[in-house]
Amino acid sequence: ALPEKVKIVEVGPRDGLQNEKTMVSTETKIHLIDMLSATGLPVIEATSFVSPKWVPQMADQVEVMKGIGRKPGVSYPVLTPNLKGFQAALKAGASEVAIFGAASELFSKKNINCSVDESLQRFDEVMKAAKEAGVPVRGYVSCVLGCPYEGKVAPEKVAHVAKRLYSMGCYEISLGDTTGVGTPGSMSEMLEAVSKEVPVNALAVHCHDTYGQALANILVALQMGISVVDASVAGLGGCPYAKGASGNVATEDVVYMLHGLGIQTGVDLSKLMDAGAYICRTLNRKTSSKVALATCKL
Ligand code: HMG
Ligand code: MG
Repeated sequence: ALPEKVKIVEVGPRDGLQNEKTMVSTETKIHLIDMLSATGLPVIEATSFVSPKWVPQMADQVEVMKGIGRKPGVSYPVLTPNLKGFQAALKAGASEVAIFGAASELFSKKNINCSVDESLQRFDEVMKAAKEAGVPVRGYVSCVLGCPYEGKVAPEKVAHVAKRLYSMGCYEISLGDTTGVGTPGSMSEMLEAVSKEVPVNALAVHCHDTYGQALANILVALQMGISVVDASVAGLGGCPYAKGASGNVATEDVVYMLHGLGIQTGVDLSKLMDAGAYICRTLNRKTSSKVALATCKL
């Protein structure tokens, strides 16, 4: 049975913009987040407190956090890879954070410069500080269906890392198909393994559409009881440490599918399309949302 309601986690301002080659102005980032806030989205990942040497596009994280209008009831989490990032996030007024690990050793090394085990130790420090500050923490696992450096990733490895993050106290674990190589077949096999270790109501899927499989993969996840879906407006993004990875599935397309299935999201599709059109116009970039393209032709 499909869920009645799905929580969409909008990751465009972070996962989407982090990969843009040209610097996006702080003003544009703030305006995008404010437009997204008006759509009814319950969660908007705003920025990340990572090293500006690693991801220059996110160097204005403090200004973004200070500039956005926070709509009551909407959560604006930020990425924090370590204690330094967590403390800076807290100081900038973040009330929710996310830690991000991987199911692949080589990706972990390229993305956050440490092994999977070392990352879990760092996350433990963040977790302790977050508990003290009363800040909820989301956990990401990247490369759950494949790795740009290692190829195939075993479902057991994903289950292991997801379980560690969950036991540490993450309230939700987002499973990222960073390279978009997954199919409904590998997705269900992986979810089967992970759901033995983490309750399905604490799982989210984070699909990339590189191979055109994202909506099919999301549908499989919904059928398996998952009701939290990450998506990026206009399909913005990729990952700076996963070459060739195209954007996350477009939020417009996810919302269109969910509403077609009679599933509530609370999101106003037409306002969401306005936000997508705004960012594409400003970045002089084509949308990756099929729904946005289709509607342009009406
Ligand atoms: P490192 O070089 O090993 O760190 O990087 P370090 O502790 O040795 O510090 C080196 C320098 O960075 C020092 O500065 C630190 O102060 C500074 P220096 O003395 O050289 O001037 N530094 C920081 N600065 C700001 N904020 C911080 C911070 N920490 C240290 N938090 C580190 C380790 C984790 C910092 C680095 O590798 C990093 O920032 N990585 C982030 C990479 C990233 O953001 N990737 C994209 C997000 S993951 C993703 O997109 C996948 C996901 O979306 C799921 C999916 O799509 O499938 C989640
Ligand atoms: Mg992503």
